[in-house]
Amino acid sequence: MSIIAVVNNKGGVGKTTTSRILAEYYSIVKNERVLALDMDPQANFSNRYLKMEIDPYQQEGRIPPLHSTYDPNSPEDRDWDGRSSIAGIFFGEMVFPYTTYIDTLEIAPSHSSKLLLAEAVIREEVVQKVYDQLSKFLTLDDVKNSYDKIIIDTPPSKGPVTISVVRAATDLLIPSIMEPQPIEGIYGMIHLWKSETLRRPENRPLNLLGVLPNSYDRRGIIHKDHYDSLKNEMPDYVLESKIGRRLIYAEADADGAAPPSIFMYPEKNVARQEVIYACQEIDERMNANV
Ligand SMILES: Nc1ncnc2c1ncn2[C@@H]1O[C@H](COP(=O)(O)OP(=O)(O)O)[C@@H](O)[C@H]1O
Ligand SMILES: [Mg+2]
Repeated sequence: MSIIAVVNNKGGVGKTTTSRILAEYYSIVKNERVLALDMDPQANFSNRYLKMEIDPYQQEGRIPPLHSTYDPNSPEDRDWDGRSSIAGIFFGEMVFPYTTYIDTLEIAPSHSSKLLLAEAVIREEVVQKVYDQLSKFLTLDDVKNSYDKIIIDTPPSKGPVTISVVRAATDLLIPSIMEPQPIEGIYGMIHLWKSETLRRPENRPLNLLGVLPNSYDRRGIIHKDHYDSLKNEMPDYVLESKIGRRLIYAEADADGAAPPSIFMYPEKNVARQEVIYACQEIDERMNANV
C-alpha cells in the first residue's frame, strides 16, 4: 500500500487539484481501491466528494455530513455525533471513511476546528504523538487490507500536521507553479524530505516522486525559464510532465461540475491526456522506487 503525501507549504499551487487528480486516476482509471485523506482545515478536497456542512460554532469552519451508517436510535451509536473526520485520530476517535460517487474511492474528510487544534501543537513530543496516531491508523489491518493507495492532501504549512503526514508517508509529491514564490516552497519541502530521510530506518525510505509543475503556461517564457533552471539544478527531482493552466481544472472545482471528474471527459480531451501522462510518470516513479 502506497501512502502518497501531496505537500507544499505555499497555498494555491495545486495541492488539492493534484490530490484529486491522483485519487481519481487510481480509482477510476486503474480501478484501485483508494482512500483520500483531507488534512487541510479548509476542506476543499472533502468538498469535492461530500456535502460538507458549516460548523455551527465557527462560520468559516467545515464539518463532515452525517455518516450514512449513523443511526441515532441505535444504542451502538449513542456516544457518537454521527460525523467522522480524519482529524478524529488526533483525539482518539474512530475514523469511518465515507463512500463517494466513485465506487472505489472513499474519503476521510477534514474537520476545520479539530485540524486547527492539532496544528496548534508545537512541542516535538506532541508532534510525535500526532504522527504516531496517523501512523497507527494507517497500519491498522483494516486500512492496510482495504486500500491500495492512500492520497493525503495537506495544509499550506510546515506545521505538525504536515510533518506528521510526511512521517507517515511512503511517497512525496510536490506540486508547484513555476514562479519564484512557490518555488521557494519547493526548497522547503525538499529540505523536509531530506531531514525525514535521515530520520528513517533504511527499510522504510521516503520516496520523492518529484516536483510537478502546475498551472503551467506554455505560451509565456516565465514558466519555461523557471522550469529549465529548476530542472538543471535538480534534474532527478523535477517531473517531465506538466499540468497546464486551463479553465477546465478550475471548472472541475465547482459544485455540480459535469462530468465530475477529468477522467470522465472524452479520451481525446487534451487536459485529460496531459493529466494521464502526468499520472503515468508519477506511477512509474513510484514503482521504480519500491
Ligand atoms: N492547472 C490549473 N489550471 C487552472 N486553475 C488551476 C490549476 N490548478 C489549480 N487551479 C485552481 O487554482 C486554485 C488553487 O488550486 P488548489 O489545488 O486549491 O491549490 P492548493 O491546494 O495548493 O491551495 C483553485 O481554485 C484551482 O481550481
Ligand atoms: Mg488545498
